[in-house]
Amino acid sequence: MNINDFQSEIDPEKLPQHIAIIMDGNGRWAKSQGQNRLYGHHNGVQAVRDTVEAAAEIGIKYLTLYAFSTENWNRPQAEVEGLMSLLVATIKGELPTLQKNKIRLQTIGDTQSLPEQTRQELQEAINATEHNDRMTLILALSYSSKWEIVQATQRIAEQVKLGLLAPADINEATINAALSTQNIPDPELLIRTSGETRISNFLLWQIAYTELYFTPIFWPDFRKVDLWQAIWDYQQRERRFGMTGEQIGS
Ligand code: FPP
Repeated sequence: MNINDFQSEIDPEKLPQHIAIIMDGNGRWAKSQGQNRLYGHHNGVQAVRDTVEAAAEIGIKYLTLYAFSTENWNRPQAEVEGLMSLLVATIKGELPTLQKNKIRLQTIGDTQSLPEQTRQELQEAINATEHNDRMTLILALSYSSKWEIVQATQRIAEQVKLGLLAPADINEATINAALSTQNIPDPELLIRTSGETRISNFLLWQIAYTELYFTPIFWPDFRKVDLWQAIWDYQQRERRFGMTGEQIGS
């Protein structure tokens, strides 16, 4: 199929509600251009714009981007600082576009650990967009799934200690409600760019039945057509949730 056909081949009745993306390959993309890693992150912003726009246009309701992991704090200080300023500048610069397109901004992760200015800028954008209802854009920042599961366990243990919850009553819904994704449906599709085929501590609980899509494209080169191709690929799959093909009527 011609790559430009992917958009027209997408079935609007079978769209994933929620797409999550591990944006990877900024550093290698920059290296291939003989530039430093921050140059790669700066060029990753255009891919973020294209992806957010394409997702909203096609009717995706939730888009989660893994922008900064708990482990990313261990990168060289200059890269961490550069990423934080880029985040602030991008959020500030993109706020009018988010408003115009009725996109709501949310975050998941240990945002308390972010620099003050980043936190403030994020909070302003979250407040300003809270009534937008076309799509929710969730930035995973200082996020890791194991961190989130530890937090959730502590919350549940507190409730048990206070006598509000019996251990035997803890079920999937209790855990869902204690996670930072409590009001967000699980992603049906997870994309990772750059050819790496790992999950890297991202949404481990939430992706139990998610379809995984890996592309060799480095994040700064990811464009609308690449998102369309991933959605098209997802629509060709049979999601059985542990049942047989006959049971789901295929
Ligand atoms: C992974 O590439 C990318 C990141 C850790 C940061 C992603 C951030 C952006 C695209 C900047 C703007 C984002 C938003 C949401 C405003 P890498 O550095 O791990 O690349 P490598 O694996 O090739 O080294």
